[in-house]
Amino acid sequence: MEKRSWDNSVIYHIYPRTFNEDKERTPQRGHGSIAGIEEKLDYLSDLGVDVIWISPPYPSPMVDGGYDISDYTNIHPDLGTLEDFDRLVTRCHEKGIRLMLDFVPNHTSIEHPWFQKSENCIKGFEDWYIWHPGEVDENGNRVPPNNWGSVFSIPNRKARERGEMPELGDDKKTPYISAWRWSEARQEYYLASFAKEQPDLNWSNWYVRESMKEVMRFWLDRGVDGFRVDVLNHLAKDMSFEDEELNDAYSEDLYENPYDQLMKYRSCGYPEALHQYTWEMCEVLREEQYEGRDIKMVFEAYMERHVLDYIDEIAPDVGVSFNFTLLTLDPHAPLSVRKIELDSYYAKLPDGAIGNQVNGNHDNVRLATRVGDVAARAFGVMNLLLPGMKFIYNGEELGLHNAAIPVDRMQDPNGLRDGERTPMLFDNTMPNCGFSNASENNLYLPVNGEDRRLAANEQINDPGSSYTLYKTVIHQIVRGMSAASGQYVPMQTDNEHVLAWGRQNDGDKLVVAMNFSEESQSVSIIGSTVMKAQKILSSIQVTDFEGDSQDVDVSQAFQLKPNELIAIATKK
Ligand code: NOJ
Repeated sequence: MEKRSWDNSVIYHIYPRTFNEDKERTPQRGHGSIAGIEEKLDYLSDLGVDVIWISPPYPSPMVDGGYDISDYTNIHPDLGTLEDFDRLVTRCHEKGIRLMLDFVPNHTSIEHPWFQKSENCIKGFEDWYIWHPGEVDENGNRVPPNNWGSVFSIPNRKARERGEMPELGDDKKTPYISAWRWSEARQEYYLASFAKEQPDLNWSNWYVRESMKEVMRFWLDRGVDGFRVDVLNHLAKDMSFEDEELNDAYSEDLYENPYDQLMKYRSCGYPEALHQYTWEMCEVLREEQYEGRDIKMVFEAYMERHVLDYIDEIAPDVGVSFNFTLLTLDPHAPLSVRKIELDSYYAKLPDGAIGNQVNGNHDNVRLATRVGDVAARAFGVMNLLLPGMKFIYNGEELGLHNAAIPVDRMQDPNGLRDGERTPMLFDNTMPNCGFSNASENNLYLPVNGEDRRLAANEQINDPGSSYTLYKTVIHQIVRGMSAASGQYVPMQTDNEHVLAWGRQNDGDKLVVAMNFSEESQSVSIIGSTVMKAQKILSSIQVTDFEGDSQDVDVSQAFQLKPNELIAIATKK
């Protein structure tokens, strides 16, 4: 079946460990599987998914949820085999669904043979990772070569909160964890920007870059349609190892992670290197053998907007950065800030680049928990009705919440992100809501019992459910209206709580207004004229989006319920 364009595509992010375990497998292991994803392709295509992105399914000791990879070119035995993967690619393509793989170029697991060779100075591998003998301090102790920190410094904060670490010193700061880890075998430090079991590869080494490009080709040759690139910015370091500057704005009240005491100018996001490595990866997608394949990459980088704009400029036809503004913008920031972010994002996108919106992923508290159930529906529609790629994190369409995870069941080394990674809830009449037939204690993470009533089987035939809202908007507006794939039109309202924008394509128009407040609001859109509305959709009461056409004068005041979004569509 023909694949739809990347522009305006619905991209469904699957966290494979907790999505679905195929029920044929004996014994059941309590881990989702590749064949389990295949089982759910009908569910995904009914919803209207164009692309699936799978978080790393590779062999891994699972220190960091699979982002610590010990073999880039295989499938973790818990999840299945390469044959399962090939079959999934084929089945996806038969249904017109593209498949995007998570590509993790910055670090491997310490169990990767490359690291073991490098640690043991096997000829040719000495510089595959970032090694340094360190310095000797005034007391004669060996210390790391600079002040670079580990992103995973939250455990220090937690230890302090549990009273297991001395109280804050005079500087009132919990110490962050150094990114430099000592290797007994090599008698040197290696750099690990995340967990100590995730050593950073040395991207300034040509052999490393070429080997990682080979990894990309391995999966492209198996038919994958694109990559989500993990922490792109971390590839690019200042290899003269200058200290990071300190973040003057840091205080324990404002920041959760002690790592944020540092700026991120040298340990990551170093411009020249960032440009070169990103460009080289993009060049792989442009190689002759992939001509006509329309392969894309989306780069993960939690960086300031100007760095992301810089990344978007590098190779806009094949790769753009994730736009995390829906996810990370302070919920208390005035709406004017959100509007500026949104308008300037689309204004600045380089020619040929496809933008994107993201409401959730496996690293962030689930949308419905973050913003509340009613607002989550509005945010969901907002994502779908903005231009570009629309990322949906598995379960978001059901309005799932974060779960409270008992300490003895935690998997995340930060003790932080398991709540958003609990099993998908397909059917509450089945064991473990349809996720797996394994016993509860053997599940990778427990099922969130609080959300049982939100399982897909309860929502699919419910006209008012979150699932039906997503499905209606995808099928009837995103795919059903040419305006929904048209140009972004910034709009002004006369109400500081209501954001509005339009989409326009050859005379077809869509006006979207979203009330970000907890109160009803009366609003009109400045400078707009009477529209002959064909269809109106509210994020609160789902209609089937059919019905008689009506005149709606959006320049006159109209009412929005608390956290309601409405979309008004007209045809020429
Ligand atoms: C970003 C991934 O999304 C996250 O889950 C992981 O812990 C870090 N990169 C390190 O790979």
